[in-house]
Amino acid sequence: MNTILVVDDQPTVVYSLKRLLQMEGYQIITAENGKEAIELAARHKPDLVIMDVRMPGLDGLDALARIKTDQPQTQVIMMTAYSTIDKAIAAMKLGAFDYLAKPFDNKELLSRVRDALKSKELMASTVTFDGIEDDAIERVIGKSPQMLTVYKQVGKVAPTDATVLIKGESGTGKELIARAIFHHSGRAMKPFLAMNCAAIPEYLLESELFGYERGAFTGANFRRIGKFEQCHGGTILLDEIGDMPIGLQAKLLRVLQDGGFERLGGAETIKVDVRIIAATNKNLEEMVKVGTFREDLYYRLNVVCIELPPLRERMEDLDDLTAYFIGRFNKKFTKHIKGITAEGLIRLRNYAWPGNVRELANTLQKAVLFCNCEYLSPDCCESLEAMDDGKCAQVEQAVRQLATLIFTQGCQGRFQEAIRMLEKEMIKKALDLTTGNQVQSARLLGISRNTLRKKLEGENLD
Ligand SMILES: Nc1ncnc2c1ncn2[C@@H]1O[C@H](COP(=O)(O)OP(=O)(O)OP(=O)(O)O)[C@@H](O)[C@H]1O
Ligand SMILES: [Mg+2]
Repeated sequence: MNTILVVDDQPTVVYSLKRLLQMEGYQIITAENGKEAIELAARHKPDLVIMDVRMPGLDGLDALARIKTDQPQTQVIMMTAYSTIDKAIAAMKLGAFDYLAKPFDNKELLSRVRDALKSKELMASTVTFDGIEDDAIERVIGKSPQMLTVYKQVGKVAPTDATVLIKGESGTGKELIARAIFHHSGRAMKPFLAMNCAAIPEYLLESELFGYERGAFTGANFRRIGKFEQCHGGTILLDEIGDMPIGLQAKLLRVLQDGGFERLGGAETIKVDVRIIAATNKNLEEMVKVGTFREDLYYRLNVVCIELPPLRERMEDLDDLTAYFIGRFNKKFTKHIKGITAEGLIRLRNYAWPGNVRELANTLQKAVLFCNCEYLSPDCCESLEAMDDGKCAQVEQAVRQLATLIFTQGCQGRFQEAIRMLEKEMIKKALDLTTGNQVQSARLLGISRNTLRKKLEGENLD
């Protein structure tokens, strides 16, 4: 359970915050001035402090400075009335995670609280490389030549402030490597924020990243600090950078060039010192060619590029990864699976892992959770060929949309052709994922090798 320290000299504010946060399941301690806050923070090591700026005696900013020096990983959200908003900017410079202008609404508060706790979690979960046996630490596994190259690159680039572009298919460990870079950098004690550019609607992304001024748009009742300002001095991961809208790319380019930008609806240029790590599973070079990604931005991001190999190209790491995940999930579910049978391992090796390490982890998680034998067998890894319900639902929805599209585009008479096209695309994808291996492709598709061969002959797809 996360512990939050609430600090305000007004008992009513403390009371209502305490009630609200307790209802969300947080454990709350309270203080009414800066001095008390410092003492309680040292004693209880809360995950988060929510503190007023203006308090009698030692004020919020002084307390903030002390808390961030003593426990850099404790996140602090400052609260302030509108008239003291410039103090809030000072607070950000002292390392506050965010600030809230009073009065604020509960939904907004809770969302900032969640962001702050998430950021604390990212900073606390140390990532290290293969070798150290400590169960509390997340490790990057793999001794294949491809992974050794990655480690060398991380080692070289982490201590510098260079921008890094991490490329790799889905589930290859891009975020993990980004966090490893952060943990091994001189900024490890400063904030680390991850922003998924694909998960946020375009109109929100700009204000999330750069913030806005009061009155910038309807509903902007207060000035809002964006991620770049929150992250001052730290590291930001721009995940799925390929999904960043072209309009915003120009603004990001400027941050990379001179650290400057304006909040939405603002004239003042803000300067920040933020290290940028970008990640993508898209082919940015292609996107540059067709004009959906700015070439100048691409070169700015691509100072150092780390390419994560797909799992199928480093199958020699499969055994270590399997052992590692069985160990982790044993711990998580208090199970005592001793390992995997030779047949089980062969089964894992014969699969192409289109979802890479993430898919392997999910498969083993299910296997460990549901299995009651000493060693995992091929039967325990049955889920390989069956898609799980969540993914099936997504596919169903996509197919339904496709059917609608076929009818609205006037192609409804071409039933056979549409089915054939889908079939062909699936086969092409399977062959692609298995680099042309027909046995693995057939397994991936859930058809026999003979059926696959016939279809290939029929389609001239060899
Ligand atoms: N080399 C590795 N060693 C140990 N665990 C790994 C490794 N690579 C990936 N993982 C684990 O696999 C999961 C997926 O990794 P991560 O989220 O970093 O992938 P990603 O490339 O960001 O994927 P996506 O493109 O889907 O966002 C995580 O649980 C991560 O800890
Ligand atoms: Mg990711």
